[in-house]
This record gives sequence, C-alpha cells and structure tokens, in this order.
Amino acid sequence: MKIDVLTLFPEVFETYLQTSVIKRAQDSEAVQVKLVNFREYSLDRHHTVDDYPFGGGAGMVLKPEPLFRAVEALNKDDKAIDRIILLSPQGKPFTQSIAKELSNVQRLMLICGHYEGFDERIREHLVTDELSIGDYVLTGGELAALVVMDAVIRLIPGVLGNPDSASSDSFANGLLEHPQYTRPRKFIDWEVPEVLLSGNHQEIAKWRHEQSLLRTLQRRPELLANVELSQKDREWLKQQQRNEPTV
Ligand code: ADE
Repeated sequence: MKIDVLTLFPEVFETYLQTSVIKRAQDSEAVQVKLVNFREYSLDRHHTVDDYPFGGGAGMVLKPEPLFRAVEALNKDDKAIDRIILLSPQGKPFTQSIAKELSNVQRLMLICGHYEGFDERIREHLVTDELSIGDYVLTGGELAALVVMDAVIRLIPGVLGNPDSASSDSFANGLLEHPQYTRPRKFIDWEVPEVLLSGNHQEIAKWRHEQSLLRTLQRRPELLANVELSQKDREWLKQQQRNEPTV
C-alpha cells in the first residue's frame, strides 16, 4: 500500500513512523508512506496556504489551490489514488470496520488541515471521504492522520507477526476484548481465573467469549446492537443483566 500524507507539518510524523509495527511495515515494504508539505504547491512567492474567510469571521481558511495542485501532481506519479481522505471533526466517525476496509486499498491519501477550516470546494470537489477520530477539536489533522494510518497499517496482511493478534482485538468482531492475564499466577492477593490455567481450550474459548460479551454490555452496550449474537449469547447476557441490575 502507498499512503501520501499532505500536511504543513511533515516533521510531526517522523518519530512515530520510525517506531515499532509501523516502522517494520515500511521496512518490509508492506506500506510506503510519503510525507508532502503542500505549502510547496502554493502559487505565490510567499507560499501562502490560507486566507481570510469571505463574509468575515475569526480565523483563517485553507485555500483550495495548493491542495488541488498537490493532489494533481501526486496523482501523476504512480498508481491512481483510491481514496482521498480529509481529516476533520466534521467527518464520519472513524471505526475499526473503516480501518479494515481501507487496509485493502492500494493507494490512500490523507489530507491534514490546520487553521480554522478548509475552503468548502476542497470538501466538495477534491476529497472522496472525510473522517473524524472523535468529537473533540484538535489543532490540526496530523494526530488524526497518524491514528488512521496506525489502525490501517497494522491490518495489512503480513504486518502483524501473528495474524490472530488483529482478529482478537477489541472491535474486530464488534465486541470489546476479554480480560488477559500473564504470570505470576498470584499477584499480591489476586489470582488468575482458574479456567485459564485448566488447559481446556474449549472452556477457555467459552470463558473468553462470555467475558467479551459481558465487558461490552458493561462498558459499551450500544455496540451490541451491531453484533450477531447467538441464542446462547442472548440468554447468557440476559442472565447477566438479571444478576447485575445496576448495569
Ligand atoms: N482535525 C481536528 N480535529 C479533528 C478530529 N477530531 N478528527 C479528525 N481530524 C481533526
């Protein structure tokens, strides 16, 4: 996969891209990330990228020309760009299922704004998608682009050493992940649940699935509406709700 990032602050990305799984993904050529400062595509000698909003008001607005020119130039240099994604708090909420879908494309572009906003023609005529990483406002789209890249890159086949790691993640099946334990068996007064030490893989899988259901019920009950539950799951959840009326 190839990812082009259009940003006014390319240096923000460098340390993170040189770390852990994301670094390995680039070293193994599963992904190639290109950081492009779109200020280079501005038309005037002061390299202006923003201007005052028509109609007045506070803050500056990103001009359309530098971004349109940057996309046009990058579109020529390789395979066609499949998705051009603008990061903004007005975008569609980013989820694991969007990350999964994006992990299958050949070429992505992420556009990071700064300042108060974008000229609306960027939204209307340049980008294919607009994504938000949550209902809060960041100074710019850079952190959001890193979040999207991280979530997408780790799902590209071959990037995680153990392919099961991604399929047991929280959200991979629409549920939160079950609790995990490692050694020691007893820490202070707290013991690891007996079933995990039993060696009975069927019982362990059952316990994990139930814990995953319970955790989702307790912490994010709205997620259950989008999960296909078996009759058994439903009964088990009902029973838990009866046992724990405060949930
Ligand atoms: N840019 C500023 N805030 C953002 C957010 N919440 N998500 C994506 N991009 C942003």
